[in-house]
Amino acid sequence: MRKNIVAGNWKMNTNADEAISLAKEIAELNSNTTTEVIVIPPFVHLTNVNNAIKGTTVKLGAQNCHQAASGAYTGEISAGMLKSVDCTYVTLGHSERREYFGETNDLLAAKVNIALANHLKPIYCCGETLEQREADKHFEIIGAQVSEGLFHLTAEELKNTVIAYEPVWAIGTGVTASAAQAQEVHAFIRKQLTDKYGADVASEISILYGGSVKPDNAKELFNETDIDGGLIGGASLKATDFTAIINAF
Ligand code: PGA
Repeated sequence: MRKNIVAGNWKMNTNADEAISLAKEIAELNSNTTTEVIVIPPFVHLTNVNNAIKGTTVKLGAQNCHQAASGAYTGEISAGMLKSVDCTYVTLGHSERREYFGETNDLLAAKVNIALANHLKPIYCCGETLEQREADKHFEIIGAQVSEGLFHLTAEELKNTVIAYEPVWAIGTGVTASAAQAQEVHAFIRKQLTDKYGADVASEISILYGGSVKPDNAKELFNETDIDGGLIGGASLKATDFTAIINAF
């Protein structure tokens, strides 16, 4: 059975003290949950946050990694480095990376490979812009993001991957996709996985929704058949809000 997952993407927020306090509070508030809870702080806080959550059920994730194993890439962080500070997950292809840093499906396929080779679980993000949705191109765009970024994987590799659907028009805007809109896309992705890998494999993959998830809309979203949790931005910076979202299951 696939896991229910709630991951908090802190983006470029928190200083060192804030990151430690937030991580501790989240771990304390969620010691009894059966949901997989992941915190995804900025790189510089990974070690501190890892220490803060040690011995708890909360897992550590990173926001990105480079596609090469090591070398002369000033300012970059490798998948091996992330593993060495106890990351379990790495977010790849967040729409902000795609938009502001020019990340393409091909590049992301290489990042997915290096992450898996280092025993990190990719949280692979996909999602359309408002323009693409209005032009009725969203299924085409999402279909290409998923197939070009992930379909070179074996079934076993795919099973170590999480997919996050995040419509760009819903990220940080306060506008959430309706539960029905989100479910429609999640079902589309699950069907795509089924066609390529078979129903058994497809049923094992957690597909998260992201984009203005809040305590008051999480329940409706998580009730949908193919929505297995959330990738939370803004609301993950407040431990009580993040916990309320986790408790929405
Ligand atoms: P948001 O961000 O919850 O602030 O909309 C979601 C994300 O970008 O992962």
